[in-house]
Amino acid sequence: MTTTHPVITLNNGVAMPTLGLGVFQSPPEATAAAVRTALETGYRHVDTAAAYFNEREVGEGLRRSGIDRDGVFLETKVWINDYGYDATRHAFEKSAAKLGVETIDLLILHQPMPSRFDLTLDSYRGLESLLAEGKVRAIGVSNFMPEHLERLLAETDVVPAVNQIEVHPYFRQQDVLEANAKHGIVSQAWSPIGGITFYPGWGEDRRSTLDDPTIREIAERHGKTPAQALLRWHLDQGRQVIPKSTNPARIAENLDVFDFSLTESELAAIDGLDTGRRGGPDPESITIAAHGAEIPEA
Ligand code: A2P
Repeated sequence: MTTTHPVITLNNGVAMPTLGLGVFQSPPEATAAAVRTALETGYRHVDTAAAYFNEREVGEGLRRSGIDRDGVFLETKVWINDYGYDATRHAFEKSAAKLGVETIDLLILHQPMPSRFDLTLDSYRGLESLLAEGKVRAIGVSNFMPEHLERLLAETDVVPAVNQIEVHPYFRQQDVLEANAKHGIVSQAWSPIGGITFYPGWGEDRRSTLDDPTIREIAERHGKTPAQALLRWHLDQGRQVIPKSTNPARIAENLDVFDFSLTESELAAIDGLDTGRRGGPDPESITIAAHGAEIPEA
């Protein structure tokens, strides 16, 4: 696979670009254009999910870019309504067909379902079977807390390649980062520039990471934007990142982070902004009753 920027080697030897395009909350009508723009700009990784309901448009963007499918790392996620061994195997078929591909580079469980962890484990065993058959090149999880990881590792065979979790300066999850590292699992940061701290309509008391004086000062020192400084903070600490944007200028801006790095004291200053306050749902609370959504057939 050719990439225009660095790759991280997963625990099964598969190479994954260190930075990809996120499409959570990208409206379907904007997604194909964003993916095409990103690929033309040099991105080689796109992260989507069955529950984002835009896999079809991600595939469309890939085809419109004219870039060879083998040159692009595609990641998607199985939603909780499709948990269970057979259902997860079928979820792969649905996602692959919507994306318009034969194989998926990284397929992960979108959430733990702590109240039905048996079903979560069966799902993961479904992922293991897809991996053994070569239908996916790597498997992993998302939003798994250390206790979920411990149980998964005790009861299944393949160590997840990736755990995708909420990480931004206001919510760092040091305990999860350490658990991932201990097991050789790549920490993949969702909402890496802290978009969740300023999504519209998410409450009056939210403050944006991009307006944070500490982050602004560090960015200015490097002649970079706050978003770029934050992406660099992740990369310098070994995390994979998937900033979301549908705006061509910001898509380009977010990839332009491979010509500088932060100092130890700058990294520590950003680490120090942690509020311990989660933006996304508590993984312990995930149930089909509260969060269920049918994933349509392809
Ligand atoms: P937009 O799609 O209009 O660019 P995150 O991935 O951390 O959740 O951040 C996503 C949010 O941040 C989106 O609202 C996105 O809006 C915005 N965003 C993405 N890149 C940048 C950037 N470089 N500067 C400012 N805002 C950005």
